[in-house]
Amino acid sequence: MSTITMSVIKADIGGWVGHSRIHPTLVDKAVEVLIEGREKGLLVDFHVTAAGDDLQLIMTHRRGDDNPDVHELAWKAFEAATQTAKELKLYGAGQDLLDDAFSGNVRGMGPGVAEMTFEERKSEPVIVFMADKTSAGAWNLPLYRMFADPFNTAGLVISPSMHKGFRFEVQDMKENKTITFDCPEELYDLLVFIGAPARYAIKRVFSRSTGEIAAVSSTERLSFIAGRYVGKDDPVLIVRAQSQFPAVGEILEPFAHPHLVEGWMRGSHNGPLMPVPVHRAHPTRFDGPPRVIALGFQLADGRLIGPVDMFDDPAYDEARRMANEIAEYLRRHGPFEPHRLPMDEMEYTTMPEVMKRLQDRWT
Ligand code: F6R
Ligand code: MG
Ligand code: MG
Repeated sequence: MSTITMSVIKADIGGWVGHSRIHPTLVDKAVEVLIEGREKGLLVDFHVTAAGDDLQLIMTHRRGDDNPDVHELAWKAFEAATQTAKELKLYGAGQDLLDDAFSGNVRGMGPGVAEMTFEERKSEPVIVFMADKTSAGAWNLPLYRMFADPFNTAGLVISPSMHKGFRFEVQDMKENKTITFDCPEELYDLLVFIGAPARYAIKRVFSRSTGEIAAVSSTERLSFIAGRYVGKDDPVLIVRAQSQFPAVGEILEPFAHPHLVEGWMRGSHNGPLMPVPVHRAHPTRFDGPPRVIALGFQLADGRLIGPVDMFDDPAYDEARRMANEIAEYLRRHGPFEPHRLPMDEMEYTTMPEVMKRLQDRWT
């Protein structure tokens, strides 16, 4: 057995056209930097991809979570790609690189991070989910279904290696505190919090039979990082599959239901999360609807054997059709809630200015 770290670090460093997708040259630039990192022995392997206007670096290495050299490499890849984004005058070039100088860790600087360190099993299937036009809490419902809902995950009932259940670590993204819940015993307490995904997000999930990490999400909220709204954080999620963890099909199953998430146009609307293959992860209708892609890998001593584009399957056609129907229904609400987000959740608002201008007209 060998210890491996999987780091998925992502940033929006410029869109083509508008906020709809990543220009292929940006992917090439990031790849160049990561090849250097692999040649120097820093990385074991990597894969670069894009979901909408977000660039994702999927990396494996032996240096553990929060490693300054790995984070610096990611930062350099984003900087190199930003350079090109600026040359091509792409939209919002460099927008998630909130600080000019790297200081040891990309957390809190704009990019989103999901990392886990574990002993690679005899066979290690992993799925990386990446979403655009939504925020970290978007994973709450699917993670609950994967690891706590027997109507989704048959293994919770009939697999001896999963029957003890899973432990959920939940982050209060506003207060920056965490709490853990042992499920199934504490399901109802868990749901009190994760049902409010704008504030509470599932950060990690652990097997209760073995204590091993099963899943980790990026829970950086750019809005809270910058002290003002600078963009929904378009989160990523890593999930280990099979044996003591849910099967690949149990992990993908929650996305057959396009649940409502916060984000979409101007980060200020509720919309259905549409599962798509990578070549369809280009939100255009009202800058959406929000998208999720899933790349599957088998690890082989840290090498990423893949990617397999998991939602490139007609079995998800119905979810996409349903997402379009929900999108159509919600759009007819225009600027009204619950399509538009509640006032303090909106990324864009004119409220303070309008309120101030009209303050004397209230009687
Ligand atoms: C949402 C998103 C887009 C933009 C919208 C306006 O996360 O990225 O919907 O918010 O296109 O963008 P600006 O203000 O840059 O013109
Ligand atoms: Mg953008
Ligand atoms: Mg985005």
